[in-house]
Amino acid sequence: MASPLLFLALVLVPGLAINAGAHNITEILAQFPEYSQYSSYLTQTKLDDEINSRQTITCLVLNNAAMSAVAAKQPLAVVKNILSLLVLLDYYDTQKLHAISKGTTLSTTLYQTTGVAQGNLGFVNITDLKGGKVGFGSASPGSKLDSTYTKSVKQIPYNISVLEISAPIMAPGITDAPASDVNVTALLDKAGCKTFSALIVSSGVLKIYQNAMRKGLTIFAPSDEAFKADGVPDLSKLSSAEVVQLLEYHAVPQYAPVGTLKTASGPIDTLASNGAGKYELKTTTAGDSVTLHSGLTSSRVSGTVLDSTPFAIFTVDSILLPTELFGMAPGSAPAPAPANEPTAAPSPTPVAPLAPTPATAPSPSESLSPPAPPMSSPTGSPAGGPAGVDDQTATPSAAADALSPRSFRTLFTASVVIIGFWSIASLSSL
Ligand SMILES: *[C@@H]1O[C@H](CO)[C@@H](O)[C@H](O)[C@H]1NC(C)=O
Ligand SMILES: *[C@@H]1O[C@H](CO)[C@@H](O)[C@H](O)[C@H]1NC(C)=O
Ligand SMILES: *[C@@H]1O[C@H](CO)[C@@H](O)[C@H](O)[C@H]1NC(C)=O
Ligand SMILES: *[C@@H]1O[C@H](CO)[C@@H](O)[C@H](O)[C@H]1NC(C)=O
Repeated sequence: MASPLLFLALVLVPGLAINAGAHNITEILAQFPEYSQYSSYLTQTKLDDEINSRQTITCLVLNNAAMSAVAAKQPLAVVKNILSLLVLLDYYDTQKLHAISKGTTLSTTLYQTTGVAQGNLGFVNITDLKGGKVGFGSASPGSKLDSTYTKSVKQIPYNISVLEISAPIMAPGITDAPASDVNVTALLDKAGCKTFSALIVSSGVLKIYQNAMRKGLTIFAPSDEAFKADGVPDLSKLSSAEVVQLLEYHAVPQYAPVGTLKTASGPIDTLASNGAGKYELKTTTAGDSVTLHSGLTSSRVSGTVLDSTPFAIFTVDSILLPTELFGMAPGSAPAPAPANEPTAAPSPTPVAPLAPTPATAPSPSESLSPPAPPMSSPTGSPAGGPAGVDDQTATPSAAADALSPRSFRTLFTASVVIIGFWSIASLSSL
């Protein structure tokens, strides 16, 4: 029995380590009213989702006075940048701060991985100063250490550390407000989504998007290649109302950056949703990669075109075909189905064969395969820099992120079943 036990131990130990990390920053901060402003801005900018979906993380928090001073003068998109520079992708408690080798180090931050940071602007310099003080500053050359460590707030060892600092860390350019009058079609054209861009103009959906932008909107724009892929129905056979529904299906009426998509707990309403369970999108996550599922097709979120709270545009690999429109031969009008008829029920007309491409077919095993390579076409951002969703910045936590808790749970469950079966088999053979 020794070898099955050893095998069991080998399977269990990494399972425990990777399933850990179910922290909730909002819940942690709720115990400290002096950080209520900071916590509220984490929620508004959806940085809370990003923090909760990561392991081995340090939040440098500002008290209400310091936070109000920052937020009063800045639009939400800038507040998001400032706060994301305060989230270190490493674990620092008081002890570790005072034990930095050679007294100074650089740490990568959420601003580096999810923001529009250029060069080393997304890195923070941590320096153990004389007299027991620890200073924080931008890693960009010539920056001052303009913030100091004030106290420890909360630690869940090696999962998350919350430390209070005196002031925000100011990287050059971090307060530059993104252009408020973004030209959506110009951005889409530049990002290789010309077909989609032309469709939203000709159908009038651009106006619908623009009306929703200020309240919160996320657009999933299929690339030009997606429109040429095998199995894409002839969109010219759709009525104009159906084209509008299809395009509305490619946007959700909320600000949903990648962290939010990763932590979504159920189906997401789109602009086309017109009742419970209608025109929804489901999400799955593998490492840092998010895939959207319509029920008929799946598409990887492949790049960031714009992330300007509360408005974001991402590119996707495939067109998302809602079952409400394409659950039957494309082009034919949707049958007036009873409201509570399950979408999987056989439809009167034959289901159009929409051969899913191997790369996008959802399968349980796919979640363990490495994420697909980042989109190769250029993505334009207001700052002019490409900001790929799949930016694999080398961080210690990147390896831990490679297996999502969900995928590991699948593997773990499968292993337990196999071991259980094996034990019974070997016992009965005794
Ligand atoms: C990380 O957090 C989870 C949930 O709070 C906890 O069960 C786990 O023990 C923590 N991991 C470590 C290494 O402390
Ligand atoms: C985190 O905690 C807050 C406050 O308790 C709660 O509203 C929120 O739903 C929690 N988030 C998750 C992902 O559990
Ligand atoms: C951090 O900043 C200090 C002060 O500007 C500088 O002396 C030090 O070299 C920097 N540390 C690193 C790792 O760049
Ligand atoms: C937006 O950019 C497009 C080019 O993609 C241009 O034709 C259009 O006039 C621009 N719209 C505005 C309002 O500037």
